[in-house]
Amino acid sequence: RTPVILDTDPGIDDAVAIAAALFAPQLDLKLITTVAGNVSVEKTTRNALQLMHFWQKNIPVAQGAATPLVRKLRDAAYVHGESGMEGYAFVEHSRKPLAVPAFEAIYQYLSSNADPVTLVTIGPLTNIALLLTQYPDSRNKIKRLVMMGGSAGRGNFTPNAEFNIAIDPEAAARVFESGLEIVMCGLDVTNRAMLSPQYLQQLPLKNQTGKMLHALFSHYRSGSMTTGLRMHDLCAIAWLVKPELFTTQPCFVAVETQGTYTSGTTVVDIEGRLGRAANTQVALDIDVPGFQQWVADVLALAP
Ligand code: BDR
Ligand code: CA
Repeated sequence: RTPVILDTDPGIDDAVAIAAALFAPQLDLKLITTVAGNVSVEKTTRNALQLMHFWQKNIPVAQGAATPLVRKLRDAAYVHGESGMEGYAFVEHSRKPLAVPAFEAIYQYLSSNADPVTLVTIGPLTNIALLLTQYPDSRNKIKRLVMMGGSAGRGNFTPNAEFNIAIDPEAAARVFESGLEIVMCGLDVTNRAMLSPQYLQQLPLKNQTGKMLHALFSHYRSGSMTTGLRMHDLCAIAWLVKPELFTTQPCFVAVETQGTYTSGTTVVDIEGRLGRAANTQVALDIDVPGFQQWVADVLALAP
C-alpha cells in the first residue's frame, strides 16, 4: 500500500477525498494536515477530526497555517457553507489535533520513516511551502506531490486562477520551483469529474457514509444536485490509485504572483514555448466513466 500524507481544507469535496484515501485498499493514510482555505484552519481542523470520529479512525491530524504566506485568507464558504462541511450534524467528541503544527508533523513523519512518502495536497499549498522553507532536506523524503490545484485553461476563482493556487500563489510558486516531482490534477480534469444527478441516484449510498455525504452534497455549490457535482479533490486520490484514468503531459508550470488580473494563475507551458525543463506532470484529460466507476467502488467500501 502507498503511504500517503494528505494536506486538506475540508471542504465537502475534501471530505469525499478523505473517504477515498481512508478506504481505497491501495492507500495507507498516515497523517492528515489541515490548512486555511475553504474556511478558517480552526474549522478545517474541526472538520477533519469530525470525519475521523465519524469513521472511527485514528489517523493523526495536525493543524496547519491559519493564513496564506503573505496574503489575507479569502475563503470559499459560499461553496461549502459556513462550517466548511455544512449539512450534516456530526456528533460531539473530544479528539484533538497533534501538539505540533502541520509542517512540523510532516517533517517528523518524514524523518522517522525510511521509505519516501507521497504527499497529496487538496487545499492551498501554504503548509508545504513552510515545510520546504524550514526543512529543505524534506524534498528527498517525498516521493512525489500529487495536487488538486491549478488549471491549464480557465479558473474558478478569478478568470484564470483556480482556488487552491489563487488563495496562496506565493506558496504555490515555491512548491512548483522546489524540484519536487509534481502531478497536477487541475480544473482541466476536475471540472469534468462530475457526478451527475442520475449517477448520484444510482450510487449505493444507503449506509451511514452515504447518508452523510448526501447531506453534505445538498449544500455543496461546485455544481448542484440538479446539474451534477464536481469532485475536484477526489481526482488527486483517483490519480494515485488509477493513474491510467488520466492523460498527463510533462510541462513547465509557473505560478503568476504579480499580475493585476492574473495573480494565482498556473502558467502551463503545454507547447514548450518558454524552453524550460518540465517540472510537472499535468493531467489534461480523464476517463470520466472510469472515474465514476472507481468512485462507486471505493465508496462501497466505506461503512
Ligand atoms: C478546490 O477549491 C476548493 O473549494 C475545493 O475543495 C478544491 O480543493 C477546487 O478549485
Ligand atoms: Ca479542497
